[in-house]
Amino acid sequence: MLVDVQNLHKSLLSPLGGPSVDILRGLDFTLEEAATVAVLGPSGSGKSTFLNILGALDHSDSGLVRVAGLDLSQLKNRALSEYRNQTVGFVFQMHHLLPQCSVLENVLAPSLVTRGRDRSQIEARARELLDSLGLAHRLAHRPGELSGGERQRVAVARAMVLSPKLLLADEPTGALDRAAAANLGEILLQMNRKYQVALLVVTHSRELASQMQRVLELKDGKLLQAS
Ligand SMILES: Nc1ncnc2c1ncn2[C@@H]1O[C@H](COP(=O)(O)OP(=O)(O)OP(=O)(O)O)[C@@H](O)[C@H]1O
Ligand SMILES: [Mg+2]
Repeated sequence: MLVDVQNLHKSLLSPLGGPSVDILRGLDFTLEEAATVAVLGPSGSGKSTFLNILGALDHSDSGLVRVAGLDLSQLKNRALSEYRNQTVGFVFQMHHLLPQCSVLENVLAPSLVTRGRDRSQIEARARELLDSLGLAHRLAHRPGELSGGERQRVAVARAMVLSPKLLLADEPTGALDRAAAANLGEILLQMNRKYQVALLVVTHSRELASQMQRVLELKDGKLLQAS
C-alpha cells in the first residue's frame, strides 16, 4: 500500500478570529501503488487541506498519515524536504512556474536541491518528459510565452522529474478551457500508466473524475464513496 491515512483530524483557526473549525474529522483513506483516485467535494470541504497534508505542506492535528512507508508526522528537516521534493509531486490549479526561467529550467528546478542523483540522468528525464508532453519545441520558451494548457503540462513535467511515487493534483484543470482540460486529464493518466505513479486528483469536474479508478467525495470531514 502506498498511502495509508487513518483517523486524520485537522482544524483551522477562523480567519475572522472566531472559534477553530474542524475541517477533517476522522478521515480514512488508502491508495495502492500506481492506482488512481479522484476527490470531489464542495468548496471549503477540505480537499486542499487534505492534499497539503499528504504532500507534507501542512501537518495534521492527529491521526496516521503514512506514505511510501514513511510516517509523515515523524519526518524532520532533511527527510521532510526530501519527501516533498522526491516522493510526491504536486500540480496546482495555477502553474506556479518561475517566470524568468525557461521551460527546461523550470522542469529541472526540483533537482537543484537534490543530492546524490546523477544530473545528466535527471536532465535526460526532463527532456523525455517534455518530449512526451509535446513540448520538445518549447524548451527555451518562458512560461509567459506558453498557452495555459502548455504551462500546466510543464508543471506536470516538473512534478514528475524526480520520479515521485505519488502525484497530487489540486484542481489541475480548473483554469483551463474544455479542450485543454481534457488534454491535461489524458496526460495525467498517461503519467500514471507510463511511470506507474499513483494519482490523486482533486477536481470539480465529474468528467475528469470518472476517468479515475475510484471516485471519492469529501463530506463532513471524511472521504466517502461518491454517489
Ligand atoms: N490557512 C487557513 N486558515 C484558516 N482557514 C483556512 C485556511 N485555509 C483554508 N481554510 C478554511 O478551511 C476550509 C477548507 O479549505 P480547503 O481549501 O481545504 O477547501 P477546498 O475543499 O479545497 O475548497 P475549494 O474547492 O474552494 O478549493 C475552508 O473553510 C477554508 O476557508
Ligand atoms: Mg481547494
